[in-house]
Amino acid sequence: MTRTHTESRLSTSQILSNREICPGYFRMRIACGQVYQDALPGQFVMVRGVGQTFPILRRPFSIHDLNMEGGRVIGFDILYKIIGKGTEALSRGRAGEMVDVLGPLGRGFSTRGDFRRVHMVAGGIGVAPLVFLAKHFMRQGFSSSQITLFIGGRSCGDLLCLEIFQDLGIQLKVTTDDGSAGSQCLITQPLAETLKQQKPEILFACGPVPMLREVMAISRKNGIACQVSIETMMACGMGACLGCAVENRDSKEKYLHACMDGPVFEVGQIIL
Ligand SMILES: Cc1cc2nc3c(=O)[nH]c(=O)nc-3n(C[C@H](O)[C@H](O)[C@H](O)COP(=O)(O)OP(=O)(O)OC[C@H]3O[C@@H](n4cnc5c(N)ncnc54)[C@H](O)[C@@H]3O)c2cc1C
Ligand code: FES
Repeated sequence: MTRTHTESRLSTSQILSNREICPGYFRMRIACGQVYQDALPGQFVMVRGVGQTFPILRRPFSIHDLNMEGGRVIGFDILYKIIGKGTEALSRGRAGEMVDVLGPLGRGFSTRGDFRRVHMVAGGIGVAPLVFLAKHFMRQGFSSSQITLFIGGRSCGDLLCLEIFQDLGIQLKVTTDDGSAGSQCLITQPLAETLKQQKPEILFACGPVPMLREVMAISRKNGIACQVSIETMMACGMGACLGCAVENRDSKEKYLHACMDGPVFEVGQIIL
């Protein structure tokens, strides 16, 4: 299910492309070595421009997709939203320039199990790892009819990757806060309604904490397994700074750390 950090690599890697796919959202493709061949959806990388002095710390991003050639991974994508100085600096990166990358890191989604149907829930930029997850399931022999994506955003400009899921043939349920696309409600509403008729074996979710809390509550209420990917603040990405603590549901150890124990957690592991 996971990689350990000792297997991970620090590299100086070339940007292959970096495009603004929607206002304020970029997709960057980065060349990589064979260590990414076994990368799992939900794992992440820490990235910073080479020679970048501010901000000094790398920023964490989910692996969004793998770029394959002849069965070998030659690059990976990150999908990111401009938030502050780090993501702004990345957005200025041009093809051919270099970035400093640490990864793949963390524990990804566990996709092994007797799943006949899965629901994925994305809030905003939380869709990033779910593209990799959907493709991973389909490489494992899943058909698109077994997967439903519930995707919500503030507005239509915050709904990313819809065309990728449509091309894969995955069923979509779309909501926006302002009603500019799909139904005007929170994405957890159609999720809860759908579960009254048909229950999947598992939910996979990534998005803002209030959405994850609600997805976790829905999963408990319906007795469905659930894995959530948490986007805490991270300084080091490898267990040194303890800045990514998440409250542990098991009282033996008060905190888990998102960079090492996550960022993907089972619903019963953590208190959000
Ligand atoms: C495991 C993991 C995977 C992630 N994957 C993605 C991804 O695929 N795509 C993507 O766009 N982002 C992702 N993020 C979030 C991303 O790392 C942050 O948006 C980024 O670090 C912001 O850096 P910045 O320098 O631009 O902003 P900063 O200057 O660091 O922050 C600007 C403001 O945003 C707040 N902020 C920063 N990061 C977060 C956060 N994680 N949660 C809440 N508030 C925050 C800060 O408090 C500050 O107020 C991920 C985070 C984690 C931990
Ligand atoms: S980010 Fe430093 S310990 Fe997790």
